[in-house]
Amino acid sequence: MTKRTYKFSNASTDFYLANGISHLKKITDIKATVLITDEHVYKAHAKRFKGWDTIVLKPGEEFKIQETVDAVVEQLIAMEADRKTTLVGVGGGVITDITGYVASVYMRGLRFGFIPTTVLALVDASIGGKNGIDVGVYKNMVGVIRQPAFILHDMGFLNSLPQVEWENGFAEIIKHACIKDAKMFAELEKNSLKTYQGRQKSICELIQRNALLKTKVVQKDEFENGERRLLNFGHTLGHALENQYELSHGQAIAIGMTYACHISEQLTGFKQTEKVISVLEKYNLPTYAAFDKQKVFNVLKMDKKREKKEMNYVLLEKIGKGVVKSISLKQLEKIIQDL
Ligand SMILES: NC(=O)c1ccc[n+]([C@@H]2O[C@H](COP(=O)([O-])OP(=O)(O)OC[C@H]3O[C@@H](n4cnc5c(N)ncnc54)[C@H](O)[C@@H]3O)[C@@H](O)[C@H]2O)c1
Ligand SMILES: [Zn+2]
Repeated sequence: MTKRTYKFSNASTDFYLANGISHLKKITDIKATVLITDEHVYKAHAKRFKGWDTIVLKPGEEFKIQETVDAVVEQLIAMEADRKTTLVGVGGGVITDITGYVASVYMRGLRFGFIPTTVLALVDASIGGKNGIDVGVYKNMVGVIRQPAFILHDMGFLNSLPQVEWENGFAEIIKHACIKDAKMFAELEKNSLKTYQGRQKSICELIQRNALLKTKVVQKDEFENGERRLLNFGHTLGHALENQYELSHGQAIAIGMTYACHISEQLTGFKQTEKVISVLEKYNLPTYAAFDKQKVFNVLKMDKKREKKEMNYVLLEKIGKGVVKSISLKQLEKIIQDL
């Protein structure tokens, strides 16, 4: 079993890439482990859960809330989980976020790990230690930063992943390419979702490259004072849209990236908006959208990236080079109104 360990400021995470869930019992004691998953994943892969104590949650972002946390805590108490118990989130980003959060507060903290089952969770949500829940319209308003003890990849889960979830995950992959990896951007331009889905080797490589890219960014800046902010490219406007309109995370940030490119044109002289848009379209993601600008701005200004009257906005200088610029709320409101 191949393991790579990445150190963070006060923890380290073991990555088991391309290993499979059958290896889980080598990493954690089956008798002292509880898996947390959702109904979709459980139904499609019941066999993979055989022999493991499992809590199955209702699927969807609307359940990434405190009530679900309370329900999981009650089940853990009923199962007599104690400080020696390990929690393993097996699912998409909703499941990994909830699992990491519950594991951080139950009995003041349990060991936890992830088996991400969506492209988005494989390349993004499982990495970096941000765990939390939504409060009302505010995404990820409550949470902690705490690194998982391990992340195990099992590409077999992707067999059942719906097409729209593939597209969702590719939004984050395109984001990574835009802010950090011009070479990968060129590869994405050349390929298509079909070529990745049809070739196990190429999707494995792409996922590992992205998981590593995010890991390195987080290692440099775990608590988001600099470099890590780049990962918010497309997310400031994206999050505000996601909660007010029926959009998936990937769709929302694709629109967010499109507008961030236009804001970049004004503030950094960015000239490659068309290229970004054509890649987003190639992977079936939305770009421009009609939205209530005032309403969205009102939510956006509550964003966690705000510092008093300034907002740290992620822009592009060129493809492969993201930068963070501080924009006053006033100026941002005007730019958004004029978009
Ligand atoms: N912690 C972080 O750093 C971070 C980063 C990015 C996103 N996120 C969070 O991640 C969430 C989005 O993640 P997501 O898109 O994975 O969402 P998700 O967990 O809701 O999964 C999407 C859908 O796919 C289903 N699913 C998952 N795996 C499947 C499989 N293998 N086969 C069939 N169906 C499957 C789920 O049941 C769900 O219906 C958001 O809540 C977002 O805030 C967190
Ligand atoms: Zn995201």
